[in-house]
Amino acid sequence: MKFYQPLDIPFECFNKDSVMQITENFDPLKFYIWKVDLSVFSDELNTFLESAGCKIFYSELFHTPAGRNLVWHIDTDTPSEIMRLNFVWGSRKHFMQWGTPVKKQYDPNVFPTVTGTVSINFKEHEIKTVESYCINSPTIVHVGVPHRVVNYDNASRFCLSVNIHAGDEKLMFNRAKELFSEYMLGSK
Ligand SMILES: [Fe+2]
Repeated sequence: MKFYQPLDIPFECFNKDSVMQITENFDPLKFYIWKVDLSVFSDELNTFLESAGCKIFYSELFHTPAGRNLVWHIDTDTPSEIMRLNFVWGSRKHFMQWGTPVKKQYDPNVFPTVTGTVSINFKEHEIKTVESYCINSPTIVHVGVPHRVVNYDNASRFCLSVNIHAGDEKLMFNRAKELFSEYMLGSK
């Protein structure tokens, strides 16, 4: 199964300068998750989502320092089909990876996130990598199974991650692929 879908969106989705204002005086050696004000997103993106009965629910900016890995985790407290729309810049040598637990049973290692939700973290040896992808265009990613980020470059990796709701529910990965089908890379 493919856990990602790159897109070719013909309009600007957000204002990068506004997003980067959050990172003022950040320490490039540290990991960060900043909550992003939704005013950074373009009218075109909001209108497109609204036309499909969807809206941006919240957004975060992740920083992965040069040469570092983000731990294996699931974005929710149980495995699911949830997705994010991700935009990545900075590093030129980085991968988002997806994996499966080596053992059927694992001890949930639950952590609160800055947005008030929880994530399950795994130790490196508990997950076997099944897919690896370098995000270099807007990309729908599955975040309901174990995933992580590796940054092999000597530059910081920034990832603007958008959480979308369909009506009052979280948008699911397969539904998101349908929603963005006209913008799928390689579909034309
Ligand atoms: Fe995640």
